[in-house]
Amino acid sequence: MDKFVIRGGTPLLGTIKISGAKNAALPAMAAALLTEEPVILENIPQVRDIETERRLLAAMGAEVELGYGRAQHRTTICTRNLSANPEASYELVKTMRASSLVLGPLVARIGFARVSMPGGCAIGARPIDLHIKGLERLGATITQDHGYIEARATRLKGNHIVFDKITVTGTEDIMMAAALAEGDSVMENCAREPEVADLADLLNKMGAKIEGAGTSTIRIRGVEKLGGARHRIIPDRIEAATFIIAGALTGGDLLVSGMEPLHQTALLGKLEEVGVKFHVTEDSVRVMGDGPLKAADMTTEEYPGFPTDVQAQYMALATQAEGTSIVVENIFENRFMHVQELVRMGANIKVEGRRAVVRGKSPLSGAAVLASDLRASASLVLAALVADGETIIDRVYHIDRGYEHIEEKLRGVGAQMRRIGELLPKK
Ligand code: UD1
Repeated sequence: MDKFVIRGGTPLLGTIKISGAKNAALPAMAAALLTEEPVILENIPQVRDIETERRLLAAMGAEVELGYGRAQHRTTICTRNLSANPEASYELVKTMRASSLVLGPLVARIGFARVSMPGGCAIGARPIDLHIKGLERLGATITQDHGYIEARATRLKGNHIVFDKITVTGTEDIMMAAALAEGDSVMENCAREPEVADLADLLNKMGAKIEGAGTSTIRIRGVEKLGGARHRIIPDRIEAATFIIAGALTGGDLLVSGMEPLHQTALLGKLEEVGVKFHVTEDSVRVMGDGPLKAADMTTEEYPGFPTDVQAQYMALATQAEGTSIVVENIFENRFMHVQELVRMGANIKVEGRRAVVRGKSPLSGAAVLASDLRASASLVLAALVADGETIIDRVYHIDRGYEHIEEKLRGVGAQMRRIGELLPKK
């Protein structure tokens, strides 16, 4: 298992370019299941979750061609020859919950899908009941046995669906299914994340008739058939937010480029409160991290609110702000696993249920810490960049799930960071 070794204290100077959004690429790849024709996706990030999805689709008989050289971020997917009983196995679903995104497309296209139940995971229970309810509303029959969900339908039928709770992949899953259903669907209380709108853009290029994606009501006119398309994935707003915070924390002068600043309204508003100086252009944010940071409370919310996927990174910043910041996690239970590691580095944080009380400013010192999930690991990298001495972060496979070449990108702007493989035990 790889580790990161980071020596803190160097301000980040220069330009970091943002990769394609993992959370937009995953549903886009699943959308290729809706057609026999090839779907060409550009700006696909080279991260482990994408490789997991490639394996998932390939196991169902899809041809997934990855680009090489200058085309390395292009993926062509052709699902003409799908297996008769496609399945998302427990092995794959347990490493990546987003595997459940194949449920809707499969049942819509071939009338059958079998997907392992996700089970508990590090950041809470994360059920998929809303995906199931949505498919049932479209006429699918769902059964459950041996830890798997099976969905069957001859042809899905459009319907009115109101989500009990806002779910990002649930909205995407049902939107894909409804695109091939017979008749019209109206989905309400939908997730408004940019990744949902990006998926609708792709589906419409494939011939779907979807309106309103990116708002809480989505209207879909079902079509008989979808075709191939070429689509460029939007920039990763969570990666961009992570690097913006890195610039603010390290007191550097960092240009985060190739991003969409309109997707960062909640973060930039919060950074203004914290006293971070930044300059926004059409596709970049320059962070000038000099001057003191002030504590500011933050609550995670569905988009356009402050993203839960940036909560852990924000907390690393809050440890370096003067005063007390209250951080409330509204989306997931149990998403404070980074706290105990930050405390080991010298942070003063107390967790009370869904609230964390961060008292700053605390000097951080390098320590051996353990990454527990994707975004928690990012917060440890950020803390390590300002800690005194050396931090060793173990289990960085979590960070490799969603950040493309993070150590190369950070080294390129001056961070002292390297990756080491597991040391072999001495004989
Ligand atoms: C997506 C993102 C993830 C992000 C999350 C919230 C992808 C691939 N992942 O995850 O990075 O952290 O949105 O912004 O896009 N819920 C249910 N029943 C369901 C589905 C969800 O109760 O059927 C609950 C979840 O437990 C959670 C909340 O709804 O408390 C939101 O989850 P959801 O939006 O579905 O997260 P994901 O789509 O899995």
